[in-house]
Amino acid sequence: MSMTHEHEQNHEHGHGPLTHIRGFIHDAPMVSNYQWQIPSSVRHLSLIGIIVLVVAMVLTHLGISYALGIGVGVALLLHLPILALTSIGLILRRARTGFIGTVVNLIPWKGNEEVLDVGCGSGILLFACIKESPTAKGTGIDIYDPYSFGGSAGVFWKNAEIEGVKSRINLQQVDARTMPFEDERFNVIVSSLAMHHVGDSADQEKATREIVRTLKPGGKIVICDVGRALNTPEKVFRSLGLANVRRSGHLFQILSAEKR
Ligand SMILES: C[S@@+](CC[C@H](N)C(=O)[O-])C[C@H]1O[C@@H](n2cnc3c(N)ncnc32)[C@H](O)[C@@H]1O
Repeated sequence: MSMTHEHEQNHEHGHGPLTHIRGFIHDAPMVSNYQWQIPSSVRHLSLIGIIVLVVAMVLTHLGISYALGIGVGVALLLHLPILALTSIGLILRRARTGFIGTVVNLIPWKGNEEVLDVGCGSGILLFACIKESPTAKGTGIDIYDPYSFGGSAGVFWKNAEIEGVKSRINLQQVDARTMPFEDERFNVIVSSLAMHHVGDSADQEKATREIVRTLKPGGKIVICDVGRALNTPEKVFRSLGLANVRRSGHLFQILSAEKR
């Protein structure tokens, strides 16, 4: 029952215009929302840009001829952050669509797993795992840093409900560097595009040590991210003697390991 590419794309983009209309009419989302969330401060900058443009148009209309040129320039400048973030978001979403299925397929599902998703955001990877193993239970952790585009706890829970996995899911708003879990609690630990947001190499090392500490012997870790964010986790896995440490991919890579 693997989450297919097409299935995931449906969740990313919705099921078409009718679905959106139905969702709007019933005042409830009909499809999961795994979009990147642009921080409100960046959206406010764009709004200010539009206001500047409108004021410039009015001033031009009143006879101040150079106002429009200045207005257009300022508006463009204030829109640059949102344009840049939207483009990066599109690239990351494309990459994520590709690797979610690969991650799920790397895990030897046996049933009754305790799954942890580090930096779970709106839950896309955790829910894909939980749907793969109908008796598994999932925990997501996230600090919902507004500059990491991961969404919010509200979006996470709405998605869990829509995906039909809410009863098997738990969310804790805690830091990956200091997890409040006992040793050897999880059978499977996954993470997608979170490690590069966790911090510098020292922060990544702390988070990786926590991942290893909370993994059960016989358990599996699969982390995906931009390649450079996996250098420290890979070093830590090797130094702590994890087995089958493997890395694949180019710009976006998947790092996996097992605990003996
Ligand atoms: C780019 S989002 C990825 C979200 C999700 N895994 C996905 O693939 O859509 C990165 C997430 O990592 C979270 N994050 C950043 N630093 C964290 C930390 N120290 N502990 C837990 N979560 C963190 C952010 O809040 C954000 O939700």
